[in-house]
Amino acid sequence: MPSIFHLEVGADRLATLTFDSPDKKVNVFTRAAFAELERTVEEVAGRRDIGCLILLSGKPGSFIAGADVEEIARVTDPIEAEAGSRVGHRLFSAWESLPFPTVAAVRGVCLGGGLEIALASTYRVASDRPDTKLGLPEVRLGILPGWGGSTRLPRLIGIAEALDLILTGKTVVGRKALTLGLVDALLPDARFLDGVRDFALARRDQRRRSEGGLDLKELLLERNPVGRKILFDQARKKTLGQTKGHYPAPLRAIEVVRVGIEDGLRAGFDAEARAVAELATSKISKNLVHVFRLTEEAKKETGLPGAAPRPVQSTAVLGAGVMGGGIGQLIAAETDLAVRMKDVREEALASGMEHAAELFETQVRRRRLAAPEARRKMALLRPTLDYSGFHQADLVIEAIVENLGVKQGVFAETAQHVRDDAVLASNTSSLSIAGIGAKTPRRERVVGMHFFNPVHRMPLVEVIAAEASDPEAVNTVFAFTRRLGKTPVLVKDSPGFLVNRLLMFYSTEALWLLDEGYRIEDIDRAMSDWGMPMGPMALTDEVGIDVATKVAHILHVAFRDRLPLPAWFDKAPESGRLGSKNGRGFYRYEGKERKDPDPAVYELLGLEPRVENPDPGRIADRMVLPMVNEAARCLDERVVRSAGELDLALIFGTGFPPFRGGLCRWADQQGLDDVIATLERLESTVGGRFQPSDALRATAAAGGFYTRFSA
Ligand code: NAI
Repeated sequence: MPSIFHLEVGADRLATLTFDSPDKKVNVFTRAAFAELERTVEEVAGRRDIGCLILLSGKPGSFIAGADVEEIARVTDPIEAEAGSRVGHRLFSAWESLPFPTVAAVRGVCLGGGLEIALASTYRVASDRPDTKLGLPEVRLGILPGWGGSTRLPRLIGIAEALDLILTGKTVVGRKALTLGLVDALLPDARFLDGVRDFALARRDQRRRSEGGLDLKELLLERNPVGRKILFDQARKKTLGQTKGHYPAPLRAIEVVRVGIEDGLRAGFDAEARAVAELATSKISKNLVHVFRLTEEAKKETGLPGAAPRPVQSTAVLGAGVMGGGIGQLIAAETDLAVRMKDVREEALASGMEHAAELFETQVRRRRLAAPEARRKMALLRPTLDYSGFHQADLVIEAIVENLGVKQGVFAETAQHVRDDAVLASNTSSLSIAGIGAKTPRRERVVGMHFFNPVHRMPLVEVIAAEASDPEAVNTVFAFTRRLGKTPVLVKDSPGFLVNRLLMFYSTEALWLLDEGYRIEDIDRAMSDWGMPMGPMALTDEVGIDVATKVAHILHVAFRDRLPLPAWFDKAPESGRLGSKNGRGFYRYEGKERKDPDPAVYELLGLEPRVENPDPGRIADRMVLPMVNEAARCLDERVVRSAGELDLALIFGTGFPPFRGGLCRWADQQGLDDVIATLERLESTVGGRFQPSDALRATAAAGGFYTRFSA
């Protein structure tokens, strides 16, 4: 069997141990890797010719990506999970106790178990290349650093900074790692290996660290028990506020860190192992691991079969509004390509540019971008009132008003100003792509590219292939979406595409609840407690009541009795209530801040809030089950290719709670027979719109969404 670790010992007493998993793109700690490392550690421990051992990666661009996620996915027995944690403790403690100093030489990603072995090393050095990222992302999989990381990290960088990394799972680049004291030196990437050797030579044969130390930071707050208590209490409160109790791992991590600090290393390791035993075998962790795998699988997708994407070197955006401004900024930020931004109004161009500038300024403030870089990128955005520069564009993205006639005209006109092979993409939220391209010569180059609001934050883009769309054009949009750092999901040209269609069944049901006398706050609280980032009424305010109404009407025409609308439906937008954008919606606003629900809404709509102490579970069923029912239809109609892609799209496009694993997975876990039984009950007590679809019945008969609609 080819080996995973390669040891070389030089005449200068410097040894290098290179981690290089055969047949893997990145190094991960599998069982096999652990077994081999254990043997290697035993062997080197007895050698007299080593004065310092450097741990290197044989993979370009990455150090160690962490534990093997497949092994985390598989473990169901708490005893086995606990043993898995203790094996890591034993191995990394043996590494830590080697009779010579060790240097973890980090170049590229260093995550989870990778950082944990680095923490057990005597020294850590990092390359200054921008993709060097260090972090402990375990909470994102519903677990916590269980190979000593929860215990060692706070000793190295202090409790507050350690909690910040462990509880969020975020990563830091080399420079930040140096400031935190997480690494001892930052080395220029150009001569990284030489730099590492020089660093190691200077520390050869010294058993202990010559400088710094593994002592607790000299922070007053952290050194005294009262100060520490305040710190842990604050962390707990903040975490509860953010997770609403849905994610147990971060809360548990706070406790484990506390034990490690107060009762010592050994107690810390014990606490880690016990926590891993419980967390790694929990349903929430399995769901989060499932979402992680969906994300990884999505990275391999390339769009439609049989066509390579064309390179995109020049772009243009039509419409400098909320979406157009955001899309232009994203292109400049992520790809460094020039963007022509066309609008018909001078003021719109000015405010689109202002919006882009604000986004860049935020990045500068958060130290994600240097100010001169931001200025350079901003200069890539070229506002225009005519089509100048469009002849160069490989890709034009349209984000003008949601009106079929206007879009058809603009597409036909644009076609006269671009090359024949330029791809024309529309960001429409509800109009048919075929319809938009109907008057455009060579309509095979018209494709849908549906972003979500706010563009810079939402990770999903629906790539919509119309019947006539050329696979090459579709795949060009698909590949470009990925260059923008977003996740593309291929969707069929059909009403509402995927995400808005499902979401409309959810938010329209909220209006029916309102109609029956439920209060705005009860409806919203039920769903945010269920795990949605915000309730449906607040969401409608965010989207814009006018926009939501328009889309609802379009989908009502398509789905008729399945998606009935209350008679008072148009009253809100007609009365000038547009939502958060004009400070008047279902809620009251002070500036941009959402306040209480506005009681005047009930009067305006002729409704009377009368349902007292409603059952949140029943409210949630009313809104979530219609989405499940419709999801089965979407899959049956091949609007999206698999249950996994549907789940990922809903999570990335709407913030559907990841701890539930996705809509289809949640429904499968509930049991589709139970889901159908509840829908039948709602059909007879509330209305015919709840009738279980044939598609859902067929899915239940086939054993569930993930059995019937796997990729
Ligand atoms: P918006 O009203 O903020 O911006 C539209 C812009 O297009 C305006 O600045 C307008 O002056 C400009 N415009 C109108 N006719 C034009 C023409 N012939 N040539 C160039 N510019 C023209 O609208 P928003 O919200 O940015 O929406 C744009 C598109 O994006 C719509 O199709 C909408 O359905 C879609 N969309 C909107 C989302 C949202 O949450 N607002 C989310 C996803 C898609």
